[in-house]
Amino acid sequence: STTLPYPRDVVAKLGELTVNDPLYFNYPDDRSPCVAIRKGREVKGGVGPDRDVVAYSTQCTHMGCPVNYDKEAETFKCPCHYSIFDPDNAGQMVIGQATENLPRIILEYDEAEDAILAVSVDGLIYGRQANII
Ligand code: FES
Repeated sequence: STTLPYPRDVVAKLGELTVNDPLYFNYPDDRSPCVAIRKGREVKGGVGPDRDVVAYSTQCTHMGCPVNYDKEAETFKCPCHYSIFDPDNAGQMVIGQATENLPRIILEYDEAEDAILAVSVDGLIYGRQANII
């Protein structure tokens, strides 16, 4: 973990997020790819009026390969060694080589702006000694 402050970045307007359609962004800096998903139903850690928006680092915790969102299975799948992570359950690894859950991007919902903001990271981004570098 780090004591350096995390940025507060607008990820998207809530209205720009389509249910089950991943939206890619970077956080907390340009070298850290992430994905936000609006699930259309309340999920663990979800934000927004329906508590259904979550976000994760897309770098697999095993060796850093970019995970893909499988819309049908509603899971993240790593193409390198087939780890699977569950976006509905805080990024928990379902099966695979990884030993850690996918780092969760902590979000906030700004009602006045109808905006989803990234404000922190829960878990260490792959390859880093601290999330803020
Ligand atoms: Fe993802 Fe190995 S890098 S399972």
